[in-house]
Amino acid sequence: MTEEEKQAKIDGAVERLRSSQDPEKAAEAERLNAERAEHEQIMAGNTSGTDAARSRINPDFVIEDNPHSHIKHVIGVVSGKGGVGKSFVTASIANMMRAKGHPTGIMDADITGPSIPKMYGLHGEVIGNEFGSFPMSTDNDVEVMSMNVLLDTEETPVIWRGPVIAGVVKQFWTDVQWGDLDYLFVDMPPGTGDVPLTAFQSLPLDGIVIVTSPQELVSLIVKKAYNMAQMMGIPVLGVVENYSYMSCPHCGEKINVFGESSIDAVAAELDIPVLGKLPMDPTYAQNADNGVCYLSEIPALSPAEAVLEAL
Ligand SMILES: Nc1ncnc2c1ncn2[C@@H]1O[C@H](COP(=O)(O)OP(=O)(O)OP(=O)(O)O)[C@@H](O)[C@H]1O
Ligand SMILES: [Mg+2]
Ligand SMILES: [Zn+2]
Repeated sequence: MTEEEKQAKIDGAVERLRSSQDPEKAAEAERLNAERAEHEQIMAGNTSGTDAARSRINPDFVIEDNPHSHIKHVIGVVSGKGGVGKSFVTASIANMMRAKGHPTGIMDADITGPSIPKMYGLHGEVIGNEFGSFPMSTDNDVEVMSMNVLLDTEETPVIWRGPVIAGVVKQFWTDVQWGDLDYLFVDMPPGTGDVPLTAFQSLPLDGIVIVTSPQELVSLIVKKAYNMAQMMGIPVLGVVENYSYMSCPHCGEKINVFGESSIDAVAAELDIPVLGKLPMDPTYAQNADNGVCYLSEIPALSPAEAVLEAL
């Protein structure tokens, strides 16, 4: 390098240094630094979720943990459309992990169509103190928070707008004392609206479970949910097919009520595991209707158990 070239390099460096001292840029840098410091402070105070899950949260969306929540794993449960039995699958997975001895909770993030409390026969009076509300315990000791137990009457329709509803989900995180949990399952409303988006952005999700039924355009729906999670850096733990088949009450033969399932092919294509193929079983519906959903044992979910235990 010649002396002139050296000098040109130094001049360039000085020029860059000068432009970085532009007062507007300096103020912007200071603002960004302050924002980062604030984010780090909040994150340092947060104790729920894995480090990996927390590090994925964009500083703009970070929300504070409740000081009385210590949650090891947060799992979102999503579906393409309503009526595939997502809430039932959420409750069934929660019951299974609880039965294995894990302290477990369910955040019913389906604010406008909450259906978790009914399956457990849970009613009313949420109590709290200055640190926030306590979740309600089901008879099999699953901790639940739902709009349904906060409303004056369970028939009150929730007619708020999307952003308000998404705010409730944040409150279900920050203002609820979840205690020590191994697993918190978040039952999302169907689709990819405000609530799933907020949950994906703000909660330290270890991953999501996608629930489908054979009636759905499975490949399209699974791919849509998969892409949304992918865009936000959230792992897809796998897919559960509900209403997969029926067993003949006489001979036990499997009947594919909705035709041949394509779930294996879709899961293979996306390289995600199938976490269970649940039969349509009248005793499941009966127990859920009677508020004792936890009485159903669902062996078809054992692949889900293996994946959750390995987190
Ligand atoms: N595999 C199944 N076999 C029998 N009954 C089922 C099964 N899955 C769900 N059900 C019944 O269907 C009812 C409705 O299920 P759920 O509340 O989970 O559906 P949903 O809330 O409409 O679904 P989503 O959460 O996707 O909107 C449950 O209470 C349960 O009784
Ligand atoms: Mg539901
Ligand atoms: Zn038969």
